[in-house]
Amino acid sequence: MTNQPLTTRSPKKIIFVRSYTLLYMKQTKVSELLKSAKFGHEVTVKGWVRTKRESKSIAFIAVNDGSIIHNIQAVVEVSKFDAELLKSISTGACVAITGTLVQSQGKGQSSEIHTNKIEVIGTADESYPLQKKGHTLEYLREIAHLRPRTNTFGAVLRIRHHLSFGIHKFFNDKGFFYLNAPIITGSDAEGAGEMFHVTTLNLENPPKKEGKIDFEKDFFGKETNLTVSGQLEGEAAATGIGLIYTFGPTFRAENSNTPRHLAEFWMIEPEMAFYDIHDNMDLAEEMLKYLVKYALEKCIDDLTFLNTMYDKELLNRLNMVVNSTFKRIAYTEGIEVLEKSGHKFEFPVKWGIDLQREHENYLVEHFKVPVIVTGYPREIKAFYMKQNEDGKTVRAMDVLFPYVGEIIGGSQREENYDKLLARIKEMKIKEETLWWYLELRKFGTCPHAGFGLGLERLVLFVTGMQNVRDVIPFPRTPKNAEF
Ligand code: 4AD
Ligand code: MG
Repeated sequence: MTNQPLTTRSPKKIIFVRSYTLLYMKQTKVSELLKSAKFGHEVTVKGWVRTKRESKSIAFIAVNDGSIIHNIQAVVEVSKFDAELLKSISTGACVAITGTLVQSQGKGQSSEIHTNKIEVIGTADESYPLQKKGHTLEYLREIAHLRPRTNTFGAVLRIRHHLSFGIHKFFNDKGFFYLNAPIITGSDAEGAGEMFHVTTLNLENPPKKEGKIDFEKDFFGKETNLTVSGQLEGEAAATGIGLIYTFGPTFRAENSNTPRHLAEFWMIEPEMAFYDIHDNMDLAEEMLKYLVKYALEKCIDDLTFLNTMYDKELLNRLNMVVNSTFKRIAYTEGIEVLEKSGHKFEFPVKWGIDLQREHENYLVEHFKVPVIVTGYPREIKAFYMKQNEDGKTVRAMDVLFPYVGEIIGGSQREENYDKLLARIKEMKIKEETLWWYLELRKFGTCPHAGFGLGLERLVLFVTGMQNVRDVIPFPRTPKNAEF
């Protein structure tokens, strides 16, 4: 039987392939065991030992396989097993345990395994850093390769997964197409010059032409960088296939060492032909409520854990967002609210300033719901935003959330060729890198709009973690690219 080819299509052989697979996948996930009422059946679980308690006759081994926040407990009759084998089972070890699933007598678990067989797949000695005691999140960042084995990061990673899946589901269900924007580009989508260069030139002795580095000799024959945003390519796709969204990594070489900034973060950027700024706001609000609700539905065990361990207001905050109507205000109105507040801000308030964290926080607390601010001064926003008739403001929108501040930035786009070109020149942006972007306005231009959601800001909000470094598996920040 074992010599049968696996690729065959005959019905008989397909049956064989199935049984072959079963043989090798016989462990059951802890998430399923805890739900299952198949008491009396033999089951196998594979995972990592969280704790082992041992009395003379009985040992209790708590095993977690990451499928769920809870462990399953294996009850072991000490006399039935080799003492050396039991000794080698310590916190951190990887084990396979086979036994009978029984309804648990103990408090706090629904089922447990009465152990018949134990295999130690990988031991972990006393130097294993995640011994029983709690660890600071700062310390866990230093062992980011092991933190998926903690309750907190298990929860965060599962929530991050469900949110990512929910994002694809939301857009797919609405008829949006998923677009893969390039990672390496020759343009600066935000015009802010915060890019990581991509080059294969010898940095110790780069080729020169007229005293300057000769990028014609570089891999792409021109200067290139990691993308700061997939928006411009997203606009090209939206003005052909209508509704698109990107979902990919973006890179910013801004030297911001804050709990909200990463040098590498994931962004979701929908772009919609024929949407104006109001349609754009409607979509952003609908999407954010959908995603928070989705997390509440799919991740309630993990959220309950985080609510208990870190932040007693977490679930309240999530429900508040789902049930709220976002407040929409013009930038000018927002400035008035801040000025009239009598509050002493570190960054003084006056028309024209970019809103700082403290201002954003004040507005959200003032209105007690998420706030969408529109009509920002053109001087503080990117070149591509649609210019308003007043000559002073652009059709920008930022969504401000409790707890995290700016979670979304977006705008209606300038669809008028002459206005866009004038703005590019005015801002001294390299026009030659944007020839193709300008052509979208030259041939069959149309009103369109879009926005960018920072995935880590969303995960930060949903998990109640306090630092974006703790919601991405391996954070990239200034002076830190370990792992
Ligand atoms: O406001 P930003 O810079 O807007 C854009 O990139 C536009 N191209 C989006 C668009 O209209 N398609 O970034 C959008 C969002 C921010 O609101 C924030 O959530 C997140 O991306 N973000 C960051 N997240 C983590 N670390 C950083 N350094 C971030 N910079 C922006
Ligand atoms: Mg922004």
